Formats: sequence, structure tokens, C-alpha cells
Amino acid sequence: MIRPSMDAPVPLTVPLEALPIVLTPAMQGDAQLLYDLWDNEARRQSFSGGPPNLDSHLAWLKAVLANPQTHLFVATERNRPVGSARLDVEGPAATVSVMVATGERHRGLGTTILCGLDTVARNLGIASLRAEIFEQNTDSRTAFGNAGYRIKEIKNGVVIMGKKVADDS
Ligand SMILES: CC(C)(COP(=O)(O)OP(=O)(O)OC[C@H]1O[C@@H](n2cnc3c(N)ncnc32)[C@H](O)[C@@H]1OP(=O)(O)O)[C@@H](O)C(=O)NCCC(=O)NCCS
Repeated sequence: MIRPSMDAPVPLTVPLEALPIVLTPAMQGDAQLLYDLWDNEARRQSFSGGPPNLDSHLAWLKAVLANPQTHLFVATERNRPVGSARLDVEGPAATVSVMVATGERHRGLGTTILCGLDTVARNLGIASLRAEIFEQNTDSRTAFGNAGYRIKEIKNGVVIMGKKVADDS
């Protein structure tokens, strides 16, 4: 298992070119497939614990889609939904959230989605990306590390990881 540390660069171990992932802006019609991503592991690793039911998820999705500062994407592999990614923009920076579907984890999808988000972020004029991850969430820390994120801070059981995707202007 690869463990990111404060200063050592993490080698990229995932053959990114082998995973043809497409990130498509989410729509209200994606509500069910996005809701289905919330398995027990996703809920355990989320600061919010995830939506309590489909109705609250529908309301959340409606609000997200109406918010110009939030960009939500469905990740598909050969037209099959396999995950989601979200950018919450604050000025020149954005906070990243990522989820990969049950049964699709541990084959590089999370890393690939995160790498794809770099281009999306640059196109939105975002200069840097960050993520807040529970310290014990090793899968997530490895995926972010393999996607080029570095640990910025560890505090109260939460790891802050970040990377620059463009020069500040
Ligand atoms: C975190 C999450 C998005 C990572 O997605 P993923 O697709 O499993 O990520 P990756 O496959 O790129 O990397 C995760 C692990 O798989 C390993 N891996 C990557 N490619 C692999 C491959 N081809 N074969 C075997 N293992 C592989 C990575 O090395 C890493 O392993 P490790 O943690 O045991 O060292 C996913 O686990 C998830 O959705 N978790 C629940 C929600 C969550 O935690 N979101 C993040 C909140 S910050």
C-alpha cells in the first residue's frame, strides 16, 4: 500500500491511459445513479454522512445544480456510470469531492477522475484544488496522492491535501 507522507512524492502507479473515463456535468435526471453511490463506506467517509433519503438527495441535487459555484460531474466508463466528482469553487481555489461506485473501487478510477478534474478546473479558471479527507481514509489519500495532491496539514483527524493546477494570475 502506498502511503503519502508530508514530503516524499508518491509514485504514480495507475495506468491512467487504460481507463477511458469521461466527466459529464450532472443533471437532475442523474439523481438516482448519484444516490446509488452512497453505500456504507461512502457514508462513513463523508463529513455529512450522506443524504438520509432520496427526497433529501433530490433537494440537495436541485440546489447544487442551481449553484454557479458548484460543479458536479458524473464519471462514466464506456457509457457506464462509475462515480462522481464535485468542485466547490471559492475564488481561485476549489474543494474536490470524489466517489467511486461500490464494486468499481481499487482499479484506478478515483485517481483517473481526479486527474481529469485538473483540466476541468483549469477550464473554469481555477488555480488550485484541495480536499479534506478523514485521516483513516487510506483509499482516498492514496487516490489523491497518485493524482499529484500533497498533504498540506493534518488536524483533528482530517488530512488537507492540495495541488496547483495553474499559475495564479
Ligand atoms: C476514495 C475513492 C474515491 C477512491 O476511488 P478508487 O477508484 O478506489 O481509487 P483508486 O483505485 O485510484 O485508488 C485506491 C486504491 O486502489 C489502488 N489501485 C489503483 N489502481 C489499482 C489497480 N489497477 N489494481 C489494484 N489496485 C489499484 C490504489 O493504489 C489504492 O490502494 P491503497 O489505498 O490500498 O493503496 C473510493 O474509495 C470511494 O468512493 N470511497 C468512498 C467515498 C470517499 O471516501 N470519497 C472521498 C472522500 S474525501
